[in-house]
Amino acid sequence: MLKIAVLVSGNGTNLQALLDAEKNNILRSGKIVQVISDNPKAYALERAKVAGIKFNVAKSEEEILKLLSITNPGIIVLAGFLKILSKDFINRCNAQIINVHPSLIPSFCGKGFYGLKVHEAVLKSGVKFTGATVHIVNEIPDGGKILSQKPVKVYDDDTPETLQLRVMQRAEWIILPRTLEKLCKSKKIFKRDFKYPGRGIIIGTTPEGRKMFAYFIMGRSASSRARIFERSGNDLIIKLTGDKNKNKNIDSSLILYSPVKVFEKNIIVTNGDQTDTIYNAMSAGKDFKNALMEREHEPDAPHFTPRISAVITPENSCYTMNILKKAGKFFYQYDFENGKGHLIHTYNHDVEPDQKLPSFRGRPKIINIPENIGEFANNLWNELDENNKVALYVRYYSSDMKNFEDRLFNKEDEKTS
Ligand code: GAR
Repeated sequence: MLKIAVLVSGNGTNLQALLDAEKNNILRSGKIVQVISDNPKAYALERAKVAGIKFNVAKSEEEILKLLSITNPGIIVLAGFLKILSKDFINRCNAQIINVHPSLIPSFCGKGFYGLKVHEAVLKSGVKFTGATVHIVNEIPDGGKILSQKPVKVYDDDTPETLQLRVMQRAEWIILPRTLEKLCKSKKIFKRDFKYPGRGIIIGTTPEGRKMFAYFIMGRSASSRARIFERSGNDLIIKLTGDKNKNKNIDSSLILYSPVKVFEKNIIVTNGDQTDTIYNAMSAGKDFKNALMEREHEPDAPHFTPRISAVITPENSCYTMNILKKAGKFFYQYDFENGKGHLIHTYNHDVEPDQKLPSFRGRPKIINIPENIGEFANNLWNELDENNKVALYVRYYSSDMKNFEDRLFNKEDEKTS
């Protein structure tokens, strides 16, 4: 589930609108997990308490970051949060931040325009319409991309207080929950509730054109769950945890392999030892396709788990994905498209524990890729089922492919930390 943190400073009526929206299923693609206030007297804290949501007071940005690292939300909502956040904070946040502002941006916004001050300025100017805006937060106060706006009429006998209330009731409390739902939905990797997609590969490009990939593993048996990812130079390997009891009688050939290997400029990502088949074929001058035609699905009857593989070929500006399943061997080739990627995973839908797992069907799914690796990695990790997820690795390259940053999650580490 996509996790949401809400930052507040005062009464918290916008927070209440979000809590109500969650209750009424208007907000259903994300879950509010944390409320942080910079003001210990904020009534918003009482609202969080009543709703049973973790709440804290934090005075500094450092404290806020520390609190956020406990829940790792993918979206942070500034709902009447009156401090201006620094560029450093925004860059260090592993989340997308949005704000609700009580005017039609670019009017009556920026430094010094907050709360009642906005409405005082609106009345002083004599404009006949004002409203509210939900926007993405960047380093310019109220200057990020506008996501939604709603106009509200100004009356001659308005006071700042009557106008504030009308703007809240007719605009803020309506557009904030709706915009948040739309944003959460656009960030979801799996479009429906899915407990066991199995193993999955994502390849794509960030909005600014950086190439990226992700690989996750999930497991149901104790041995499958007793695994961790480990970096090995530019490669990724899977190891068993130290728990000897869990590791008895393991057929390691299907669960211990290198999911990521790099041959010259080609990045190979797979869910099995076909990584080596591809790597060796490339070393011998053959290509991805030739290599995989020699392989087939896993021999794990009755499931016959598909083998999924992908290769990023930067020079060709494209990536290829493959699935080897009982029904055949399928290749999909895509051009890199900024902000987009494809996901392929091993199982198609959930079944009862004793039933055969259905192989992935159809074409790889198109997903949105955000610029921020932390946001993407946190969201994906949070979306994977708590009991079944085992490990996740995400890598974002620099535009020239010379460097990369990465994120690695092991369920095992969370258990001990
Ligand atoms: C709201 O009108 C919100 O838009 C505004 O403060 C009020 C908080 O009310 N925010 C700003 O002015 C930010 N620049 P609430 O605490 O009852 O939600």
